Amino acid sequence: AAPTDYEAEDALVSQGVVESNHAGFSGRGFVNYTNVSGSFVEWTVNAAQAGTYALTLRYANGTGVNRPVDIRVNGAISASAVAFPGTGAWTNWQTKSVTATLTAGLNKIRATATTAEGGPNADKLTV
Ligand code: GCU
Ligand code: CA
Repeated sequence: AAPTDYEAEDALVSQGVVESNHAGFSGRGFVNYTNVSGSFVEWTVNAAQAGTYALTLRYANGTGVNRPVDIRVNGAISASAVAFPGTGAWTNWQTKSVTATLTAGLNKIRATATTAEGGPNADKLTV
């Protein structure tokens, strides 16, 4: 099936806020993770069938410091400390992809900051 976009501003957010002050996002804005370890965005993603999927996160990181996040699928670690390096400016959006195994139907995909810097600004997840 064609990939589907899931906006971060429509996801479940813990310790973060939806903002729109840095141009270039899709939808109505992006999630600014609170700069603490443990802040997360969780998307509910529908997979037509069980299997391996590319998860592509569009993000910006206007600092020079990596903002790693753990990716959990339905509560289990799928990818640890996935790197989100600097993009040069908060208005420069790039993508980072990982592969993950999804079950048929709804899957909870959670991206949790692992450092005190929090996560990068998160625009959308494409699956
Ligand atoms: C700035 C920027 C935010 C970003 C934050 C950060 O405040 O405007 O969008 O989230 O830095 O360092 O996390
Ligand atoms: Ca932030």
